Amino acid sequence: MKVGGTIRVPGDKSISHRALIFAALADGESRICDILPSADVHSTARVLAALGVAVPTLSADFTVVGRGPHAFTAPSGNLDCGNSGTTARLVAGVAAALPFTSRFVGDASLSRRPMRRIAKPLREMGATVDVAPNDGLPMTITGGPLHAIAWRSETASAQVKSAMLLAGVAAGVEVTVHEPARSRDHTERLLTALGATVAVTGATVRLAPPGRLAPLRLRVPGDPSSAAFLTALAVLASHGALTLPDVCLNPTRTGFYAALERMGANVTLDQRESQGGEPVGAIVARASSLTGIDLGRDDAPSMIDELPLVACLAARAAGTTTIRGAEELRVKESDRIATVVANLRAIGVNADELPDGMCIEGCERPLRGSINTHGDHRIAMAFGVLRALPNSDIAIDDTACVSVSYPEFWNDVARAIVSE
Ligand code: S3P
Repeated sequence: MKVGGTIRVPGDKSISHRALIFAALADGESRICDILPSADVHSTARVLAALGVAVPTLSADFTVVGRGPHAFTAPSGNLDCGNSGTTARLVAGVAAALPFTSRFVGDASLSRRPMRRIAKPLREMGATVDVAPNDGLPMTITGGPLHAIAWRSETASAQVKSAMLLAGVAAGVEVTVHEPARSRDHTERLLTALGATVAVTGATVRLAPPGRLAPLRLRVPGDPSSAAFLTALAVLASHGALTLPDVCLNPTRTGFYAALERMGANVTLDQRESQGGEPVGAIVARASSLTGIDLGRDDAPSMIDELPLVACLAARAAGTTTIRGAEELRVKESDRIATVVANLRAIGVNADELPDGMCIEGCERPLRGSINTHGDHRIAMAFGVLRALPNSDIAIDDTACVSVSYPEFWNDVARAIVSE
């Protein structure tokens, strides 16, 4: 199989959510280009609209007129976050500062995902937050005036950190968050670009009581998590090279590419410019031979969404790959430890679950069997990469779920593979 050409992957999902939320909280007209038009980002747009924000139809170049947190209005029904944990947790931070009740609901997967991790600090700041008995949704928040907080988070989670920072922005109070390890920092970068004072020391972030936020002008760079799938496809090809321009190369997101290098992959990152406070550049990925590696707790935060894909690459690497310190995978869109291991076994790969990760034995035999995605977009795409390899005979039960983060994924895979 040969890969070739240049593909611009869609806009970064984390930055797209934040762009909409910050545009709504700012005072004035924000202009956003190249936002990701995926199901998750539509969930954020829908929830903001239900809170009284005039969000236009998402397009390649559009404007949002923000009128600050005081212009948000009480929703007339539930806030439906669909499959999107980022929508639920980040907008919950805003809702904690709003003087009315908001009820967050989501699909079956999101309803099972832990919300106490944000409920606890938001309560500590002064909001009333009720989560479902299973720790998930529905979650009801009655907001109001909040007070400053210094919080030690148990998990390295950008969603927890961002919920608190957004509560601080909407309420105008100081927020300090200590994390066990540094999570992705798009919220801090955007806040700084909008004129707020954010101090970062190690894994501690302190937001000074913010005033009004300036509107943003932002071009959303390509998503490194989406680019990871095409990079993996190129690495597993027998020859050729694939260029992915204009990808966000924020170091809190590029752990996957560092891991690939350790596996022996021929992948280069060429950082060229900065957009909206984010480093951006091109990824060039070439056909490579891979070797298994050990990944631990320090590796996980900067590649948490890519670990299922690493496990799929490990199935085609020489030797064994071990992933540890990644228990957070159990509370993603599916239990990604159980889902990945069961699916690897279903296609003939030896793999074992660990409480906090997994162990995968590389092999060369053709991969054959059926994948149960559990409706999880990243599982569909990770195994979609293996399905594209010659001699694979893999059925995927739900290919449509990629619409959550990368609606054009299957077309882009087809474009990346060129005839020999
Ligand atoms: C995200 C943070 C991460 C990540 C998710 C997006 C964000 O979740 O897995 O896909 O945009 O803040 P956690 O905060 O739960 O680690």
